[in-house]
Amino acid sequence: MKIITMVLTAVALLTISSSGFALLPGKAEDGRPLHDNFCMGCHVSMQGDDGSAIYLRSNRRVNSIEGLMGQVAFCNEQIRAGLNEYEIDDIVAYLNEAFYRFEID
Ligand code: HEC
Repeated sequence: MKIITMVLTAVALLTISSSGFALLPGKAEDGRPLHDNFCMGCHVSMQGDDGSAIYLRSNRRVNSIEGLMGQVAFCNEQIRAGLNEYEIDDIVAYLNEAFYRFEID
């Protein structure tokens, strides 16, 4: 079941990135509380403050919107947060709007 979810997520992400959606499907205002609940604690313990330095550091890992989608889906699997694809989209939208600011066209 987990693997099926992972494969479906990967396929969905590929479809989204290759078809060039005009806008991200997620809603940033819904992603923020999800992010704060599931994701922040760990980043805070690593970076201090509110943890957001992990998204803004000069040697950050994520350098594209596709990379951001992949990283959020990957973290969700790693920590077994069990977020569904819509929640992942919402977190991607939130992180992009608040921190990464990749151009979406
Ligand atoms: C168990 C601890 C932990 C939790 C919980 C966690 N992360 Fe992370 N996260 C990390 C670590 C460690 C790194 C840095 C990896 C590195 O530097 O190689 C990271 C890095 C990231 C990055 C990349 C930052 C960059 O360099 O651009 C993103 C995006 C991210 N996490 C998103 C999330 C999201 C979304 C969640 C919740 C679904 C989450 N993380 C939950 C530990 C965690």
